[in-house]
Formats: sequence, structure tokens, C-alpha cells
Amino acid sequence: MKKVNLEKIQNEEYKICPEFSKEDIKATLDKIVKIVDHMLLKFHDDSFPRACSKGYVYDSVGNLKWDSSNNESIWTTSFWTGILWLVYEYTNDEKYKIEAQKHSESFRQRIDNYYNKNEEEAGLNHHDLGFLYSISTVADYKLTGSKRALETSLMAAELLSKRYIDKAKILQAWGDMSDENQRGRMIIDCNLNIPLLYFANNFKEDNEFYWMAYNHAKTASQYIIRDDASTFHTFYMDTETGEPRFGSTHQGYSDDSCWARGQAWGIMGFPISYRYTKDLEFVDKAKCLANYFLNRLPKDHVCNWDLIFLGEDDQRDTSAAAIAAIGLLELSDILPKTDKTKEIYKNASLYIAKSLSENYLGDNLEGILKSGVYFYHGGLGIDEYVIFGDYFFVELLLRLYKKWNSYW
Ligand code: GLY
Repeated sequence: MKKVNLEKIQNEEYKICPEFSKEDIKATLDKIVKIVDHMLLKFHDDSFPRACSKGYVYDSVGNLKWDSSNNESIWTTSFWTGILWLVYEYTNDEKYKIEAQKHSESFRQRIDNYYNKNEEEAGLNHHDLGFLYSISTVADYKLTGSKRALETSLMAAELLSKRYIDKAKILQAWGDMSDENQRGRMIIDCNLNIPLLYFANNFKEDNEFYWMAYNHAKTASQYIIRDDASTFHTFYMDTETGEPRFGSTHQGYSDDSCWARGQAWGIMGFPISYRYTKDLEFVDKAKCLANYFLNRLPKDHVCNWDLIFLGEDDQRDTSAAAIAAIGLLELSDILPKTDKTKEIYKNASLYIAKSLSENYLGDNLEGILKSGVYFYHGGLGIDEYVIFGDYFFVELLLRLYKKWNSYW
């Protein structure tokens, strides 16, 4: 197992629990319910928010028929579904459940389209099936017991498993499996796609999906994390020999910088892999990633979009902040009481949640969390709502508000 650097956490503030009470969290969640109710006027049936807003207003995208005109949202429609499930759990109001269950049918339709020779239009030829199905049909199954939602989730896991390359022990990210330029590339985001395989494995006779997910997480932990505990966004493996090739970025500032959301996918994803596998390497690595992340936060505890930027006035990425804060909670839950960082991670998560609530909550009823970034160099969604940021902020608050059974 590769050793990576564990920085000492510099910010003494994290030793003290911030003033952010259950009532404060409830007050934010109540405001979010109002936003979601407003969004529901526009986004229902086959109308979903696009991946990111323009001028802080989301346009609508359908969940079916994918091509280059809506490609940026190909992996993100489920975040709206996930928000509806979270708000249903918070309010117990059936209207959110009824809408989310319509989405389950839409996600089923995508899989049916795939098998009915509409592969392009189905928009499922990528690794993001975990994002699409964990918080839609898996959530549906976990909350309602729907057998059809379970069946759809298992079909999605089956599709995801086709991206596994045994020699390299990874799930390939984007691109057709036969495309030489894309072959053998894994990305840190995939840490949040493999939970679909861990979940689906429980319903299979063999342990094939478990090993795919576990092996992928081990390979990512070995190569995508640098010695200093920062992360590459993407890493290429040689699919003939299984040897590592090189790391690079897609959405980060540069190949050798540390894209904040990538680091956050690691901080949240490795503890989830620990939950399913009990392999302590994932906890050790997540701690290294977390400390690196916490030592590069501006004063308001909300990270800049790439951790190479340390300035107070640089562009934040609130989505990365919310995802990392969830990871810090997962980590804190796992660690024994004897580990001093248990409290520190919980406190840090609360500082982030408090800052997001007080400084970044949407104020025009069109979205939930301001100052997200989707793809900086691509010029897409910079200082905007991003639907995954909205989702993870609600998940973070719900986790802080009550005992929550994870969709992941
Ligand atoms: N998984 C793609 C992203 O984080 O933007």
C-alpha cells in the first residue's frame, strides 16, 4: 500500500464546535423546501434542471434523447430526483415522492432505450450510471421497497459493470470502450459511481460486482492520489499490462494542480468504500485527502474551485465544499472515539455547512446553492447554481439534521 503524506490540520478553529444548531439547520432546510416548491412549478415530469444555471436560472432538459445539445447534463438529471427524495424524507409530503417515482420510470426508459438499439439517445455509455441510479431508483427502492425500482437499479449496475477492465482493475470513465484515446482512463469522480455496484452485489449470487468496485477503489487509491495527498482528476492505466501510465486533468486548473471537486469525490468516496469493504486503507487515505483539503480553505471555510488557488477572492466551488463536508461526516462516523480527529472532522463539516447556509443559499428561488463551478476551463457553469451542488448541500443538511440511511 502506497504511503501518502498526512498533513497536520492547521486551523485551530476546527477544535471547537461552531454555533450551528439543529434549529439553524431546520431553518435552512425550510428555506430549501420553499425553493424546491418553486422549482417544481417548472421542473416536473420530463422537465429537469440542466446541469448548471445561466445567470442563476436553470433551463430545462429532458431525461431522454441525449446528443451534443444537452450532453453536459447527461449524468446530472438524477440530482433533481435525489433532491425530491431528500425533501420527501424531510417533510414526509407525498407530493415529492410521487414526482420522484415518475422519474424512476423515466430512468427505466433510458435503460430500455439502450437495449432497444437507441444506445446514443439513451445516454448511458459512460461511467456515471452510479450518479444517475443511486439517488433515483436505488433511493426509490430503499424508501418505498419498489421491486421495479430495484430491478432498474440492478440493470443499471449491469451496464456499469461492462466498463470494468480486468487487467487494469478499473472502471473506464468516458468514451467507447474501443476508443484508443479514452481507453484505460479512470477518474476520481467514479468513487461515487461504484456504490451502485456494491449495492447491486447484495442481490447477486456471485461477488463479481463487489470485486469490481473494490478493485477499482484500490487502484484509484494507489495511483490517483499523489504522494502529498492531493489528487489527479484522471489517471491512465495500461490496459494490456495493467501498469500505471500517467495522471492528468480534465476539469482542474492543470495536470499537476488539485481540482477541488475531485479531492471532494475522494474525501466522500473512500469512506463509502470502507463502509462496504471494511478495508482501513480507505480511511487512512481519506484522512490524508481531508487534511490536505482543510489546510487550503479560505476564511469562510468554502474551497476555491481548484486548491491551487488560496485567495479570499478567488472563485469558490460550493459543490466541492458540500461534497467534502459529507465526506468529513462519513469519516468522523467511522473513526473511534479515541481518534482526536473524529471531533475535528465533524466540526469542520459543521463550519462548512454553516458557511454555505449563511453565505451561499440561493436567494431567487431558482436554485439552492450559489457559487458553484461545473467546468471552469470549458466556460461552463462558473459562479452559478450546479444541480449536483444543490443536491449534496441538501444531503449534507439532512445528514446533520437526522439519522439518514444513505442512498450511496
Ligand atoms: N463528475 C463530473 C463532475 O464532477 O463535474
